[in-house]
Amino acid sequence: MIKVADLELPTFDDVDVTAKKVLLRVDFNTPVDRESKKLLDTSRIKAHIPTIKELVEKASSVVIITHQGRPGDDDFSTLELHRDALSSELGMDVKFVSDIFGPCALDEIKKLEKGEVLMLDNIRLASEELIEASPESQSKTYLVRRLAPLFDIYVNDAFATAHRSQPSLVGFPMVLQSAAGRLMEKELIALSKIFNLEESPKVFLLGGGKVLDSIRIIENLSKKRIADRILLGGLVAEVFALAKGVNIGDENKKILEAQGFLPLIPRARRVLLSGAPIEIPVDFIVEKNDEIKESYATNVGGIIKDIGPETINIYSTLLNESRVVVLRGPMGVIEDERFRTGTLKLMSSAFASDSYTIIGGGHLLSLLQFMNVTEKKKLHVSTGGGALLLFLAGERLPALDALSQSVKVIKR
Ligand code: 3PG
Repeated sequence: MIKVADLELPTFDDVDVTAKKVLLRVDFNTPVDRESKKLLDTSRIKAHIPTIKELVEKASSVVIITHQGRPGDDDFSTLELHRDALSSELGMDVKFVSDIFGPCALDEIKKLEKGEVLMLDNIRLASEELIEASPESQSKTYLVRRLAPLFDIYVNDAFATAHRSQPSLVGFPMVLQSAAGRLMEKELIALSKIFNLEESPKVFLLGGGKVLDSIRIIENLSKKRIADRILLGGLVAEVFALAKGVNIGDENKKILEAQGFLPLIPRARRVLLSGAPIEIPVDFIVEKNDEIKESYATNVGGIIKDIGPETINIYSTLLNESRVVVLRGPMGVIEDERFRTGTLKLMSSAFASDSYTIIGGGHLLSLLQFMNVTEKKKLHVSTGGGALLLFLAGERLPALDALSQSVKVIKR
């Protein structure tokens, strides 16, 4: 069992997975090139290999479920490319069916032989997976009721999605004997150890486009006084700039409006008024009429694409002075290599510092290939982004609660 705060989670050492039919929830959600739609990186896929290999070696038949993006977003896609990447990482053929719980999927699952691996299509193609609800009600969804009877065991290895209470994460543990996979186990053990360190200052660098998640995280970090400083980049920095009354220009406001982020400004303002130790960029890299230039935050002349050189200097100094650094989410539009500088330079500063560094989330993981990480000693590379930060902020993660309840539910 892994002990996490007041929870006890079963692992492969508690549940016999030998020669069983296993439903395995992973997180292969990966940044995708906007033009070619190719996967930009396979770190998250690689991270699950020990779990999948162990199951295959124990002659289990493994059916993998994961999501990729969210409906309506550029990176929402089917999973053939993920299957190809998994086959090559695993060194064996992985089957794929472009179905989730329809007749084709059920048929393929029933036909699966011991030691074989099958991937179902993007679980978020099923509308029930888009709803967050209690484990009890998720266990009654068609998704869970149709798939569960075909399996002996449910394994959750998706630490990076543990902050969601969707059927694939909290419904199955209510009806199947369940266990945490090896990646889930590794993440929880490493993060619990690092974060119990009495070291300070603790500096959080937060970026990316998941603004609502980031505000929730900042509220938690600030309320529980976990962070000494929170350095912002990406779209979340723009929302906080507006909350501070900084005019970031109509073009940038329109982009935030189109994504539904403007109503979050009052909430960001309340966070600032509560005294949260937040820093926002003083300058940006912007694009205007195909020209790329630097622009002060007080007079933004184009569409914001990255943080600027002065912000990089200020943030780097703060990272250098820290004892624990947590990095999550890019500072700019890193899918375009012209706008990776801010994120790469800050990652380098964190790696060069003497701090314990935790780096998480699909986008930052995709940039590790450009860095020399072998020299850095006190480093944990986490597959989690939002889940990582909420875990570090001491929030309950629904998927972990469900795994721990599973033991009691199944024994009843
Ligand atoms: C992530 O990348 O943080 C996880 O895969 C969860 O994705 P989501 O925020 O779309 O639920």
